[in-house]
Amino acid sequence: MHYIAPSILAANFLHLEKDIELINESEADYIHVDVMDGVFVPNISFGQNIVKMVSGIAKKPLDVHLMIVNPDQYIDSFVDCGAEILSVHYEACPHLHRTLAAIREKGVKAGVALNPHTSITLLEDVLESIDQVILMSVNPGFGGQKFIYQTLLKIKALKSRIDERNLDIKIEIDGGVGLQNAESILSAGADILVAGSSVFKASDLTKAISQLKEINQNTFI
Ligand code: DX5
Ligand code: ZN
Repeated sequence: MHYIAPSILAANFLHLEKDIELINESEADYIHVDVMDGVFVPNISFGQNIVKMVSGIAKKPLDVHLMIVNPDQYIDSFVDCGAEILSVHYEACPHLHRTLAAIREKGVKAGVALNPHTSITLLEDVLESIDQVILMSVNPGFGGQKFIYQTLLKIKALKSRIDERNLDIKIEIDGGVGLQNAESILSAGADILVAGSSVFKASDLTKAISQLKEINQNTFI
């Protein structure tokens, strides 16, 4: 069983409401929301106002991915705006254990995102505090980039570690995901596929989501 999280970064903001309604009626499991501050990543997306408006009409849980420095300062506001899973970047958190505890204290799921160069072994001592790991399969900041294939090895290694320790942590893959690589990603052990361009640039968004949802995974390639 795997899950699909369309990323609205790739949506046309002039008809965002219509796109959210399509996602609502689709087989998507979450709505992935990319918040970028122009400091942690070289791009600016949107902030709390948009997240709150999306949350007002979304029928799927919001999976909010904070690509910002000092995320601790914004945990309360993003949860209050409707985030149900809130992920911070490992690279932006000097006190990650405290940050994750603060997210869970707000009653939502806590996620950690790792840039492509960041080793999964760095999470070893905080795994118990994590509900979701986002493995970035592109350098964060922009949609429409090419999937970094090294990520498949990270997925396998992380999945083994989670299983060895019998933990309940979802692995989400973010960046460059589409029909061409979804099966390999799922077979490596991923649970959630983030899909921006591959669904929003498709001629039929609903169908693109269904196709990703219907992919069968083989056990460990
Ligand atoms: C990248 C973002 C991704 C992005 C994915 O920094 O975190 O969520 O929207 O877009 P695609 O699927 O187009 O690579
Ligand atoms: Zn993202």
